[in-house]
Amino acid sequence: MYDSTRWPIDDTACVALLRWALPRLRMRWSGFRKVRRQVCKRIARRLRALGLPDVDAYRALLEADAAEWKHLDALCTIPISRFWRDRSVFDRLREEVLPALAERALASGAPAVRAWSAGCASGEEPYSLAILWRFDLAARFPALRLDVIATDVDERLLARARAGLYGTSSLKDLPPAWIDAAFTRRGPRHAIGNLLRAGIDFRRQDLREGMPEGPFHLVLCRNVAFTYFDEPLQREILARMAARIVPGGALVIGIHESLPPAEEDFVPWIPRAGIYLRATDQRPRAGRARRAAASGRRITAPPPPAPSPRDR
Ligand SMILES: C[S@@+](CC[C@H](N)C(=O)[O-])C[C@H]1O[C@@H](n2cnc3c(N)ncnc32)[C@H](O)[C@@H]1O
Repeated sequence: MYDSTRWPIDDTACVALLRWALPRLRMRWSGFRKVRRQVCKRIARRLRALGLPDVDAYRALLEADAAEWKHLDALCTIPISRFWRDRSVFDRLREEVLPALAERALASGAPAVRAWSAGCASGEEPYSLAILWRFDLAARFPALRLDVIATDVDERLLARARAGLYGTSSLKDLPPAWIDAAFTRRGPRHAIGNLLRAGIDFRRQDLREGMPEGPFHLVLCRNVAFTYFDEPLQREILARMAARIVPGGALVIGIHESLPPAEEDFVPWIPRAGIYLRATDQRPRAGRARRAAASGRRITAPPPPAPSPRDR
């Protein structure tokens, strides 16, 4: 049986296991370095549930039983999120990006700005967008809705997202006036308002296997693919995202993340906030992206394209 005096499992042994296993799941060790304690604790619990003595025995199980990889994969998802995470990103979305995307949507005759939150955890990110739209931008763009699709691989997190109940610590970065406007108190927790839920479609989906149909004006993929996935998988995901984002639309990644080198479909828009512009088809894009990234300057969004049936 698992030796509880060695709980949580030995860091060196767990790191060796992760270095061996993660590439087989198309993930990379460097993304897990800082969060490994959380993952190793879960692996320790799994060892205990299986009655295995140590990490070597778990590795032997993985080598013998393909089904165990699904369990390990699930142990490697990191659910950390909060409302208005990285405030500067939401400030930029509010002041520059969403107004530009709304103008673009209006110019194309679209009834809504369409957004996708990929890896939405317990709903903090898509609800933050909905709050921002409802309490700030909706008045400026009364002819438009904000429609959000929010996906995550973890059904338990999605259930929490649909329930919409949050502790005070999840809300600490949200402007206080919006906390009062967006939530009602239920004991120690805060319940998100029904109107804010209405525009969000929560779906279970593994980013490695599928994506919602576009087109989208805005995709947020923060602290998921560009931290944890290996580079070839990141490129595949980017190509599929590029096919779903309208030219002039935006991709937002985490502020500590970067896109794979020589990426051509996206150019930096507000680099410090991890905000990229879906490039138009004018080449050469890579040179432009590299120059902008090197200088740290912003690229002005191109004028809205002519209305296209895809965008309606
Ligand atoms: C660290 S959280 C980030 C949440 C939010 N995007 C943010 O930045 O606050 C990562 C989320 O991605 C989800 N995730 C991990 N792998 C995934 C995959 N292959 N497909 C979809 N979601 C995934 C996890 O379940 C988790 O909810």
